[in-house]
Amino acid sequence: AFANVARAPEDPILGVTVAYNKDPSPVKLNLGVGAYRTEEGKPLVLNVVRKAEQLLVNDRSRVKEYLPIVGLADFNKLSAKLILGADSPAIHGNLVTTVQCLSGTGSLRVGAEFLARHYRERTIYIPNPTWGNHTKVFTLAGLTVKTYRYYDPVTRGLNIQGLLEDLESAPTGAIVLLHACAHNPTGVDPTLQQWEQIRQMIRSKSLLPFFDSAYQGFASGSLDGDAQSVRMFVGDGGECFIAQSYAKNMGLYGERVGALSIVCRTADVASRVNSQLKLVIRPMYSNPPIHGASIVATILKDRNLYHEWTLELKAMADRIITMRKHLFDALGARGTPGDWSHIIKQIGMFTFTGLNRKQVTFMTKEYHIYMTSDGRISMAGLSSRTVPHLADAIHAAVTT
Ligand code: LMR
Repeated sequence: AFANVARAPEDPILGVTVAYNKDPSPVKLNLGVGAYRTEEGKPLVLNVVRKAEQLLVNDRSRVKEYLPIVGLADFNKLSAKLILGADSPAIHGNLVTTVQCLSGTGSLRVGAEFLARHYRERTIYIPNPTWGNHTKVFTLAGLTVKTYRYYDPVTRGLNIQGLLEDLESAPTGAIVLLHACAHNPTGVDPTLQQWEQIRQMIRSKSLLPFFDSAYQGFASGSLDGDAQSVRMFVGDGGECFIAQSYAKNMGLYGERVGALSIVCRTADVASRVNSQLKLVIRPMYSNPPIHGASIVATILKDRNLYHEWTLELKAMADRIITMRKHLFDALGARGTPGDWSHIIKQIGMFTFTGLNRKQVTFMTKEYHIYMTSDGRISMAGLSSRTVPHLADAIHAAVTT
């Protein structure tokens, strides 16, 4: 029955890891997927996560019953507080409904499915470029995906003019996907003043903002600092969707823990929206897994554990910033042609190098360096030990 099934291509991001795993070279380096590595090149489980897990294991009253369809109540409350701020009027007014979902992707998908069923406008504008999975998530949920201008390859910065023009010509009510911070793949974020321009445009056209917040704490090292864009939009009293992921900032990648928050105009609407979210979730995966959300809730509700988390998070963010400096200096030392200052200007986990597909292929073939074909490298996968190898490869790629 399936003899004619065609072989599908690997995922553009996760497929990089598949190719990396097959390479026997001892110098191989995986800078594809955005996953944090230590200076030793090893995956990191945060200390505070280990502590929380220990507490959970020792608590014999804990059982493995099903969670409610919308997930762990504590986790949902604390997640909304983390992104919106403890003093958020939207929280105090019960205008926010939050449901636990399967990390960032699951939160985006549940939000998209809800929109496809209950929202009048079916077009969503996503930045060009954006995380490769965005188009698929929204298209498969039944929305029409269009792009707005975002990145300017000439300045290697934000094309704010193009962005505002594209939002201005979007149909009234269209959905707009925004990266809350640390834009993936470019590492280019609007300034606060530009965010304010974007907010005004979105509100004046009655567009619906949908934030993807996958890196809270990773852009500036501050959890509050990285939530400023979202808080500006929620602060004006308008509606807003937010998908949160704990994959990066708590290192809980494989636990698949995230949340979707929808900020509504009244508490009554929020509770009706919540009732409909249950109808979206139940036939998809019934209810979410318990372990990851319990870890997050344990950390967020304990003052000491929370503080410890912020320190570990800052240490990860700082190490990435140090790698940016090292790589920039290493290219300078080699006299590599071109302006590489974007490496230290861009923020978050990634550098959008400007290397083209051919150069990327060359680096993989000759230097066993694995990265996405758009020239994005995960700075979190670099270490002091591997920077020279990468700098050699980039130098060779742009000079041969
Ligand atoms: C990435 O962009 O590398 C991460 O968000 C991981 C993923 O799921 O693609």
